[in-house]
Amino acid sequence: MENMIEFLKTRRSIRKFQDRPVEEEKIEAMMKAALLAPSSKSSRPWHFVVVDDKEKLQKMAESREMGSQFLSGAPLAVLVLAEEKKSNVWVEDCSIAALLIQLAAHDLGLGSCWVQVRNRMKEDGVSTEDFLKEVFEVPDGMKMECIIGIGYKDEEKRPVDEAKLLTDRVHRNKF
Ligand SMILES: Cc1cc2nc3c(=O)[nH]c(=O)nc-3n(C[C@H](O)[C@H](O)[C@H](O)COP(=O)(O)O)c2cc1C
Repeated sequence: MENMIEFLKTRRSIRKFQDRPVEEEKIEAMMKAALLAPSSKSSRPWHFVVVDDKEKLQKMAESREMGSQFLSGAPLAVLVLAEEKKSNVWVEDCSIAALLIQLAAHDLGLGSCWVQVRNRMKEDGVSTEDFLKEVFEVPDGMKMECIIGIGYKDEEKRPVDEAKLLTDRVHRNKF
């Protein structure tokens, strides 16, 4: 990894992917990053479903009214979910793990994009979570946060322009 700030500036959401599978070693590395995520009370409530089955990826693409369709062209996606009873802050725990997957993907030369699952619906009004629970045979007691779509980039995005950072959102000693 080069300088941390440069690394973060060049991480952009990628929604177009090459028709090329992601190597097993890279999948393993991203999952290791997820499993290294800090969690409240070290409760580690998360589970990760690694998906490279085309039909399942298509189902994931159809799981939202908008914002998930690009998954039909992704070679890989990871569904991030948690055992609700293990943590009352599973949303935060899952979010941190999901971001680490995205950062690991970037470090490995892959592109990725978050697809929100929690609090989202399908076109027909069915909750995205309920729909995906059925598709992936998820047992009761699990809650879903997001999907991370991953693959080799087929689009170029400019690094974030530092001049556009909301520096006035940083307060010192009082709001
Ligand atoms: C909590 C969260 C939910 C998001 N949901 C979606 C989504 O459902 N679909 C999508 O295409 N992008 C989604 N994104 C990606 C954002 O649109 C993206 O991060 C944002 O526009 C900034 O662009 P950048 O990641 O290239 O810096 C989500 C990102 C976050 C952090």
